[in-house]
Amino acid sequence: MLSMYNIIDKTKHTERLSIQEVSYLVKGYVDGTIPDYQMSAWLMAVCLNGLSKEETFYLTDCMKRSGEILSWESVEGITADKHSTGGVGDKTTLIVAPIVASCGVKMPKMSGRGLGHTGGTIDKLESIPNFNVELSHTDFIKTINEVGCAIVSQSGNLTPADKKIYALRDVTATVDSIPLISSSIMSKKLALNSDCIVLDVKCGSGAFMKDIADATTLANLMVDIGKFYNKRCTALITDMNAPLGYNVGNSLEVIEAIETLKGNTRGNLLDLCVELSTEIVSTALNTDYVTVKDKVLDAISSGKALETFSKMIEYQGGNAKIVDDYSIFDVPRYSYEVKSKVSGYIQSIDSQEVGIASLNLGAGRHTKSDSIDYSAGIVFNHQLGDSISIGDTIATLYSSKVTDPSQVEDSLLKAITINAQKPIIKDIVISCIN
Ligand code: URA
Repeated sequence: MLSMYNIIDKTKHTERLSIQEVSYLVKGYVDGTIPDYQMSAWLMAVCLNGLSKEETFYLTDCMKRSGEILSWESVEGITADKHSTGGVGDKTTLIVAPIVASCGVKMPKMSGRGLGHTGGTIDKLESIPNFNVELSHTDFIKTINEVGCAIVSQSGNLTPADKKIYALRDVTATVDSIPLISSSIMSKKLALNSDCIVLDVKCGSGAFMKDIADATTLANLMVDIGKFYNKRCTALITDMNAPLGYNVGNSLEVIEAIETLKGNTRGNLLDLCVELSTEIVSTALNTDYVTVKDKVLDAISSGKALETFSKMIEYQGGNAKIVDDYSIFDVPRYSYEVKSKVSGYIQSIDSQEVGIASLNLGAGRHTKSDSIDYSAGIVFNHQLGDSISIGDTIATLYSSKVTDPSQVEDSLLKAITINAQKPIIKDIVISCIN
């Protein structure tokens, strides 16, 4: 007879679990017959001893099947999804979805809200007046078919097992396990059920995976899971040793996304968006990288991707005039310029610290029920490798909630390392796993 005690004991001794045992523990935890203390003990055993590839596949599949599995039958064409393992200033979905749609691949995107120091795509979109992130199923499908992309908040009963297990992992120090992270992310991606999945696995000081070896193991495992369940699945391992782009904070990030779609930005954000879009379109359409990269660059330079973004805002009820008039966003009431106290080259910008500074300006939530100041955040004047002199403005802090934004000045300055040597700047994409 199956028993949770035996399952914990087996994982403790690195003995392999059968699919029946994995299914028993997932179902039992969701229906409440397995208590938190037993599930916590098993999760800790997994953290210490790992799971085999087969066990990870079983766990992913059982979590996927714990809720609804979406179908895109009424969407015409190939569907693609992307997932990022989370980063400060990561507004790539806002840029990549319209580019990919302009290149002929459909992107029905479900995104999340932010909690703590990382922002959420849905919060960023909600900074656009009247933007509706809760479209009915009919309107969601109509937008995808007619615009090519739509971005809504994750709703319905998708992977309830992952929700419950993730909440427990969060409070039992069992998040940082490669098989648990892989099965958590891939169960959601498989339930969302697009034809093609491209993963952006972040690596560096601001990411779950601090070194390339761990990021590569995680990416390989997730790609194997995707392929095993018949998805076209690839991953890019990307550098996360600084925030992405120049702006952090909700409306500030939407503005930077629009500027990128207008072809007005350069640097790590543009590079990553071009690479991710190229990877998604070439994987989805099975076309060579060089041809697709030209198409992606053309989608930006021709204005097609910007037009798609504007149309998506309109279909989702938002005020599309913001694309040309940023004064329609909430305007921050207070601002403060942070000046450099030393001269030299910017060596690193600790993205976690930047995320916390932005959170403290009001751009994020400390708890789920906090309200957000959409106008709050940070605009950097410089990126890694730039030279800077004493007294130059490094960044401007904005808030409508915090009357004295200079309160976060010290923590922001501590996040930025400046010294005499010009650093070697790595490419944003470290490697591709396919
Ligand atoms: N993101 C997820 O969705 N799950 C994890 O386990 C870690 C990051």
